[in-house]
Amino acid sequence: MALATKRVRKAVIPAAGLGTRFLPATKAIPKEMIPIVDIPMIQHIVEEAVRAGIEDVILITARNKEAIENHFDYNYELEDTLDKKQKKELADVSRAIAGMCNLISIRQKNPMGLGHAVLCAAPVVGDEPFAVLLGDDLIDSRVPCTRQLIEIQEREGASVVGVMEVPADEVSKYGIVGGRMLDSRTMHVERLVEKPAAKDAPSRFAIPGRYVLSPAIFQCLRETRPGKGGEIQLTDGLQLLAQREKLLAYQFDGTRYDTGDRLGFIDATLAFALRRPELAEGVRQMMKKHLAER
Ligand code: UTP
Repeated sequence: MALATKRVRKAVIPAAGLGTRFLPATKAIPKEMIPIVDIPMIQHIVEEAVRAGIEDVILITARNKEAIENHFDYNYELEDTLDKKQKKELADVSRAIAGMCNLISIRQKNPMGLGHAVLCAAPVVGDEPFAVLLGDDLIDSRVPCTRQLIEIQEREGASVVGVMEVPADEVSKYGIVGGRMLDSRTMHVERLVEKPAAKDAPSRFAIPGRYVLSPAIFQCLRETRPGKGGEIQLTDGLQLLAQREKLLAYQFDGTRYDTGDRLGFIDATLAFALRRPELAEGVRQMMKKHLAER
């Protein structure tokens, strides 16, 4: 069946990385469980997927990541205690997280790279187009970024990677796409380069961590040899996919926060706190106080 005729129902969320940039916080707890205000990063990501129409979330996990699975399950003892203490609203918040989606978890037994993590999902995804969302990137947008990509995928019958324009001195931090612009936001991708030097970058369009892919990516990943850092890179698999099938890049609408980086994490925390009516004024006062003291 053609890619365009199958609906995107599944999303893969790779969460098996070591989270070294966040040590020592990640020594015993998964990076994905660190909260932005009071919602764990991974819940923000799963909420984006669900708002985009995803039904099944395939979590790629590793040892010591059980807290993520527990977070998306019921916690009967907690919920029952909250009910008895007349805190039904809080109990409902806890239950709603468990009811959000089907969660299927797969262990990536060795952290052999993002491409390898996505390949671990092949038996569950099967022969359907699917979304990939990286937990390090929070994208704040009216229409969920993944929904924006699904709409392009449905219209064009092609795989789509979400991209954002970055300054020349930042291209070396990302996978960068190159190709032919079809309109002001959409590119037909001809090549991808992982973390190029500014002079070798084919464009300034960077992939921050949102994709809607054809299942053909799995065969491409099986054929991909370890690249930078001895890991199987998703970017290298996508390069092969671009040679075999139509691959588009779409400049999504939204603000992206790199929550895998400490400054990006603080940025996201402030932005999300300032939009909470019960916190905004307090946070503003706190920021004024801290800035006056420095
Ligand atoms: P990163 O390299 O940015 O995340 O991988 P990391 O390894 O968790 O963190 P640092 O860099 O050591 O601080 C991007 C995404 O791919 C997942 C990570 O969990 C993260 O969501 N990943 C990476 C895997 O699932 N498996 C891997 O082998 C590598």
